[in-house]
Amino acid sequence: MCGSARRANSSAIAAFFDKGFGEWELSYGFRRDRWGRGYATEAGRACVRYGFETLGVEKIVADVEPDRVQSMRVLEKCGFARIGELEDGRLFYAITR
Ligand SMILES: CC(C)(COP(=O)(O)OP(=O)(O)OC[C@H]1O[C@@H](n2cnc3c(N)ncnc32)[C@H](O)[C@@H]1OP(=O)(O)O)[C@@H](O)C(=O)NCCC(=O)NCCS
Repeated sequence: MCGSARRANSSAIAAFFDKGFGEWELSYGFRRDRWGRGYATEAGRACVRYGFETLGVEKIVADVEPDRVQSMRVLEKCGFARIGELEDGRLFYAITR
């Protein structure tokens, strides 16, 4: 696992091995009063770089609720591409090394 985690009511971002997907997954949530400052993008890029360059991970995935436009934008700015849709309607993204 790489990333940073603070208190539950604060902000967190992490890349972890998801046994359900069988893939490394990026997940995040930031305090609402901190949105729009580029923090998620900066932290997401750092997680991806750490995963690829330090951990040697080949691929990182992420899933997003279809109405979370800002989250999709963060993934795109981190270099992820949309590769499909899950059965429950969540959109599925991935980035490879
Ligand atoms: C998703 C989330 C982490 C984004 O954090 P953030 O620090 O505000 O993200 P950034 O500032 O790095 O980038 C946000 C981008 O979304 C864009 N954006 C924000 N609201 C938007 C909207 N309603 N429509 C389109 N784009 C929007 C911003 O303009 C920005 O893109 P830009 O740099 O091209 O202008 C934050 O909104 C959050 O915690 N949401 C709730 C939890 C969540 O959705 N987690 C993701 C599921 S894993």
